[in-house]
Amino acid sequence: MQIAASLPAPRPAPTGYDSGLSAAERRRTGAWYTPPALVAHVVANAVGEVRPGEVVSVLDPACGDGRFLLAAASAIEAQGGVALLTGVDIDLGGLRAAGISASSAPVIEAVEADALDHDWGDRRFDVVVGNPPFLSQLASATARRGRSRFGGGPYADAAADFLALSVRSATERGGRVGLVLPLALLTARDAGPIRSSATADADLEWFWWSDDAMFDASVRTCAVGLRRGGHADRSPVRRASGSGFDGLPAVSPPPTSANEHWGWLIADVHGVPEVPAVRSTSTIADHALVTANFRDQYYGLVGAVSDEGDGPPLITTGLIDAGACHWGSRPTRFAKQAFAAPRVDRTGLAPFMQRWADRCLVPKVLVATQTRVLEAVVDEHGAWLPAVPVVRLVPHLDLAPVSVWEVAAVLTSPVASALIAGQSVGSGLSATTMRVSQRTLGALPWPAGPLALAVAALRSGDLIGCGRMVDAAYGVDDVTLLRWWRDGLSHQGVPSGISSV
Ligand SMILES: C[S@@+](CC[C@H](N)C(=O)[O-])C[C@H]1O[C@@H](n2cnc3c(N)ncnc32)[C@H](O)[C@@H]1O
Repeated sequence: MQIAASLPAPRPAPTGYDSGLSAAERRRTGAWYTPPALVAHVVANAVGEVRPGEVVSVLDPACGDGRFLLAAASAIEAQGGVALLTGVDIDLGGLRAAGISASSAPVIEAVEADALDHDWGDRRFDVVVGNPPFLSQLASATARRGRSRFGGGPYADAAADFLALSVRSATERGGRVGLVLPLALLTARDAGPIRSSATADADLEWFWWSDDAMFDASVRTCAVGLRRGGHADRSPVRRASGSGFDGLPAVSPPPTSANEHWGWLIADVHGVPEVPAVRSTSTIADHALVTANFRDQYYGLVGAVSDEGDGPPLITTGLIDAGACHWGSRPTRFAKQAFAAPRVDRTGLAPFMQRWADRCLVPKVLVATQTRVLEAVVDEHGAWLPAVPVVRLVPHLDLAPVSVWEVAAVLTSPVASALIAGQSVGSGLSATTMRVSQRTLGALPWPAGPLALAVAALRSGDLIGCGRMVDAAYGVDDVTLLRWWRDGLSHQGVPSGISSV
């Protein structure tokens, strides 16, 4: 179908079509239209310079009331170019509400379809802009059920699929993409493959984000700009933030990244230092089995934990500090109950939990979650059971096995903590809380250098010494990194500041 737009205003007036939808319909389709100032920012960056007479094709794959397309047409025509506009939406009611009729210019090719299912053939566009629906795959009303068709994992937000579609739909020679996305997409695990293929096919050119909600929806947002056809590895990305679109220094991709994430776009603003290039030829997962406990283990333990009895101690995340376990000396909580020294009655466990306990009661390293820097402790004799969500690492018994002390030492280092912190920003946790998971720990680089001195320091309780030696084994000597990490350990009585560093 072809319909035409009424005369474009530089900033199209909001139609209010989205807020008139029922709450359920709005949630199902992710219809929260974009504030005009953000539309203007994305379009100005994505359209860029246009030569007089140049024909520029523009796609918005989730066009709502067409505000991105109209703003793009204005920007192109103001420079003497000719805009060819294509808008797709599962509900063209927004375009109709904008007063777009078949009799006025510029013409919009409007397609009522699911853009992710649409057969695009070999059509490509010079510019792809928009604000796709953010549809969480955790909510049953919006879940696609199953893996993303664009390579993302089962929990990848639908907006990630639109990112993949947009990059694919941009012309290979210089096509530009400007998309509003949930901020969490920078580091979301299941969007990883989509981020990787986006940056394999295109260069990140500019980035905007806001820590305040810019929409009625309570989702923090960002906007990314990519350009296809460049070969600019590690070229700086222009940045702006907030409702004032204030400029910030450009940032380049870091030399060391322990996962395909885009947290580095905002890590410095959250005080996370950059990690220099590290010497490494393997990852933690090459040396140890990393396992997280989930709800099955949580519910499996409920009812079997008490302060009495003589079963194995239960170690909660609150009992773990870097290099220290406070079981028996610090009270803790499990399943909404307070305990002084919780133990697990193994006779009260179901058979699958008995097998789980057998697997856990081996020499291992336990790692706390939701901490400021990594906090790992050694269970040398395999006497403890981890609570949920403590992560455990058991060294592989292969030809060149590493010890539990080496594993704990590697985790007790500025490099390891900064790599994890850099991929935690934007995840919805507080700015100083790291997201520790089986995957993020396993992907950490294992240092190429020797660890004997680091292990000796850790065994003697010298955390700072351990951190310095592990960084040295990574080939890193960076006082900013060391100071940041040391500040993160200050709650353990490690003095902050670097006077002795
Ligand atoms: C966040 S709104 C953005 C609308 C407009 N681009 C803007 O920024 O104001 C998301 C839009 O995506 C549309 N939508 C949801 N799922 C879609 C799909 N699978 N294909 C195309 N459009 C979709 C919704 O109807 C809604 O208009």
